[in-house]
Amino acid sequence: MNFEIFELERNQSLFENEVDFNLSESGVHPLKLSEILTSDEQDEILETNLFYGYTNGTPELRQRVVDIYTPELSIENVLITSGSAEANFLAVMTQLEPGDEIIYMVPNYLQIGHLARSFGITVKECPIRQDLAWQWDLDDVKALVTPKTKMIAVCNPNNPTGALMSDEVMDGVIEIAQDANCWLLSDEVYRGAELDGVECRSFAGATDKTIVNAGLSKAYSLPGLRLGWSVGSKEYISRAWSFHDYTVINVAYLSDWVASRILESDRRKKILNRTKDHLNHNLNMLCDWAKNEPTFTITRPQAAAITFAKLNSPMSSEEFVFNLRDNYSVLLTAGKWHGMEGYVRFGYGTPADYVQGGLDRISDFLKTIK
Ligand SMILES: Cc1ncc(COP(=O)(O)O)c(C=O)c1O
Repeated sequence: MNFEIFELERNQSLFENEVDFNLSESGVHPLKLSEILTSDEQDEILETNLFYGYTNGTPELRQRVVDIYTPELSIENVLITSGSAEANFLAVMTQLEPGDEIIYMVPNYLQIGHLARSFGITVKECPIRQDLAWQWDLDDVKALVTPKTKMIAVCNPNNPTGALMSDEVMDGVIEIAQDANCWLLSDEVYRGAELDGVECRSFAGATDKTIVNAGLSKAYSLPGLRLGWSVGSKEYISRAWSFHDYTVINVAYLSDWVASRILESDRRKKILNRTKDHLNHNLNMLCDWAKNEPTFTITRPQAAAITFAKLNSPMSSEEFVFNLRDNYSVLLTAGKWHGMEGYVRFGYGTPADYVQGGLDRISDFLKTIK
């Protein structure tokens, strides 16, 4: 098997801890346990036996995940995974076979696309369009359906654009998936990080063959817990769990324990409010800065700590990003690594002065290429 390089993750893994200003992150600056647990809970955690726990996630945590979605679901519709990354991996591994086709939204995080192609699956990329405010033209999606279509995979809120799918497009996608009798895989790891504070509609439960993956890394500012989940039919969850025996067995018991507390209704709301306030503040700052930098055209995102800026420069996205990284010690991500050339992604979720420091360095770089 010839595995494709996951360019986005590789470039981040190699350089995110080396640069002075890492603006390649798509999440909000991480929280500390001392900020989110009471002192009684902190004491309790020190006295907790570190069991394996439940390999599919504790019933308590799975119930908290159910509470985020629709009451029609039960804990048997949930599998706790090691980040949404594992949840995505399981969806591809359990449902697709060489020769199958998937319709894949781009630009994207590309984990699913790289992985599927590596497994011999045909990936038909379907771009969302900036001239449609980063929506799909449903005719483009329909045109890609064939008898071999086994899955439509979307990312909503979208990484890297921060766009939300409109109701009309969501309804259309559900209809197309039903007509094709195929899986609908929705990566919703940025749900909860909407700039207007209103959680967007989820695909959870949309069809019997819908899989929704999410986790605590982005909107909840807790990537270090490595805590994600998959929501789907009982049959799907049971099959994914049986593959999860081979991947990580289960999530660290401590992460499950902390996540069960984080997802208590009031605490969850408090964390998501913090996310919203922080993102609004930093996005205003970024947009003010961008007004004086014609090298970028920024469409204001609706969610997540990211925006995908059109690069008004003859440089390729990688040339731009490598130059900036090597000469000014700032890391952005290149449109190429998201499946769309001509753009770069800014992450603005880190503390405001840090983001501003990175932007100042980018201004210095831009002066040299004008
Ligand atoms: C769209 C998307 N899905 C999944 C992941 C993986 O996140 P995690 O495994 O931390 O939940 C990322 C990380 O950036 C992402 O952007």
